[in-house]
Amino acid sequence: MAIRALELFCGIGGFSAAAAGTNIRIAGAVDQSPAALEVYRLNFPGHDAWQLNLENVTREELRSVEADFWWLSPPCQPYTVRGAGRDAEDPRALSFRRILDVLDRMGEDELPRHLALENVEGFARSEMRARLVKLLTGRGFHVQECTLCPTELGVPMRRPRYYCTASRGRLEPPTLVVDAPLRPLGAYLDGNGAGEDLRLAGDVVARFGKGFRILDPKDPQAYTTCFTSGYGRALMHAGSYLQCAGGVRRFAPEEIARLLHFPEGFRFPDRMTLRKKWHLVGNSLSVASVRKILEAFPGLVA
Ligand SMILES: C[S@@+](CC[C@H](N)C(=O)[O-])C[C@H]1O[C@@H](n2cnc3c(N)ncnc32)[C@H](O)[C@@H]1O
Repeated sequence: MAIRALELFCGIGGFSAAAAGTNIRIAGAVDQSPAALEVYRLNFPGHDAWQLNLENVTREELRSVEADFWWLSPPCQPYTVRGAGRDAEDPRALSFRRILDVLDRMGEDELPRHLALENVEGFARSEMRARLVKLLTGRGFHVQECTLCPTELGVPMRRPRYYCTASRGRLEPPTLVVDAPLRPLGAYLDGNGAGEDLRLAGDVVARFGKGFRILDPKDPQAYTTCFTSGYGRALMHAGSYLQCAGGVRRFAPEEIARLLHFPEGFRFPDRMTLRKKWHLVGNSLSVASVRKILEAFPGLVA
């Protein structure tokens, strides 16, 4: 029987993409970003997605979804060096704190049966992680934690992330992920060449190119670094570049979505700017990794 899930901080729908073809049915999705929701609704038109600032979410609002599974992808800036690592004191952690407060006040019969959370690796050492695990174990959940990178699944993209899976029922022990051989990067790239808007100006490559990770699409060992929401805005430390005929180019947002294992056919609204697409896809998650993580819940993934 299908289980009802609530997708909190849904963004462009990474969790919905991972849940496709499983016994999970998305009963509700929430995000505060109109642009993210525009992409979400375009790709998951049957899902009930609401725009809401989760800092103010009420117990009644969360309860009304009657979800047995809560998925959370809260903002990661409080746990990154770049985001100043202010952890529980960061205003961007307020929405997650609010959700923990609501969970804490819920009666036994209101709690979801399963919960899972994804975040950057720094979350594993945070005060907010300690609060989450204490709350869940205190409310009778079994908790498992791990870090997984898509490269361990053979995807040529680095994106190591922390995952917490929790259930008031049984959890499968994490399956040992044996390093799979990397799939060729070329298989994820657009076959019909890159548009001019992806190409880096020659003087930019001349000035900064030594600091870039520029990949040869034909190199069977090539893998990208993590694409961040700043790709397209920041030149350094935001993702990798590609050699192309006569120069160097950025990855298209659609290529990054493919590396994240969004399904073929996933798309952005026609009039959305490249920068906005990069921002949204850089905030999203590895669908392949989440699909693997869902195996912890017996019976959810066939
Ligand atoms: C790390 S991203 C998660 C992205 C998502 N998993 C995906 O597949 O695109 C965090 C998301 O939280 C949303 N967000 C941040 N603060 C929020 C708040 N206070 N209320 C609701 N959503 C919020 C952002 O708009 C962003 O989409």
